[in-house]
Amino acid sequence: MQVRKAVIPVAGLGTRFLPASKAIPKEMLTIVDRPTIQYIVEEVVASGIDQIILVTSEGKSAIENHFDYNFELDTILKEKNKMDLCEQVCNVANLIDIVSVRQKKPLGLGHAIWTTRNVIGNEPFLVLLGDDLVQSKVPCCQQMLNLYGEVHESIVAIQHVPKNETHQYGVVEGTALRDRVYQVERLIEKPPPGTTDSDMAIIGRYLLKPDIFELLEKTTPGHGGEIQLTDALLALAKRRPMYAYEFEGTRYDAGDKLGYLKAIIAFALQHPVLATEFRRHIKEVAADL
Ligand code: G1P
Repeated sequence: MQVRKAVIPVAGLGTRFLPASKAIPKEMLTIVDRPTIQYIVEEVVASGIDQIILVTSEGKSAIENHFDYNFELDTILKEKNKMDLCEQVCNVANLIDIVSVRQKKPLGLGHAIWTTRNVIGNEPFLVLLGDDLVQSKVPCCQQMLNLYGEVHESIVAIQHVPKNETHQYGVVEGTALRDRVYQVERLIEKPPPGTTDSDMAIIGRYLLKPDIFELLEKTTPGHGGEIQLTDALLALAKRRPMYAYEFEGTRYDAGDKLGYLKAIIAFALQHPVLATEFRRHIKEVAADL
């Protein structure tokens, strides 16, 4: 069955980014010239998906407004004959069909995904976490869709991380089937140091079969007292094959202050207008270090 929908959970408080995220959603923090969430939405669009389901909470309306049509702004820009800007702003509103679902209690990522069950229905879907920005030739979601076209089973995106960092991630244990593709055997959310030999960390991209909803319903609070998607995925992996896919590209953790800075530099160096001048500036700064 074709994958048509993508879920983007944005209900989190953004505590790693305080005080910046006190009054604005962390997803609206800017990377070069657009909010981080727009990069995620653009990855979904570039992968040919039809609809996005945002999982929101109180205080996140700026995200919905960003992807909406702004009549007043449109009128003013047209009056001032700023047609280029007007087009750019309209393009954001026309990117893709977006619907929102509220996560009424902060019970964890697994619970956030579960709230979309009635909108997703009985079809496979993508999940993208807003903190993880991926720069790649082929959009990360598209790479996963390509693999899904072969295996027709759930897939989690992974990257190898240093062993002393695995406790910050959901970790996959499994066996290599071929270059970049692993059969998942076990998944552990934030394993304490020394409790797994695997260095395969789950990155915020998942392609899931709808059976996950029934399993999320039964999932009890796990790490941090939250309903963990990773725990439901383990139950799913016991029931049917699941694959881990080491995507091609570079991932930035834009929900972390240092990762955010790295993302700004990486995306600025790719920017069609700013890259040349910015590269020159970076070289000058680096020479003085
Ligand atoms: C979440 C997932 C975790 C995954 C990570 C990737 O954790 O629970 O399994 O490895 O995203 O960014 P969080 O970073 O929200 O604590």
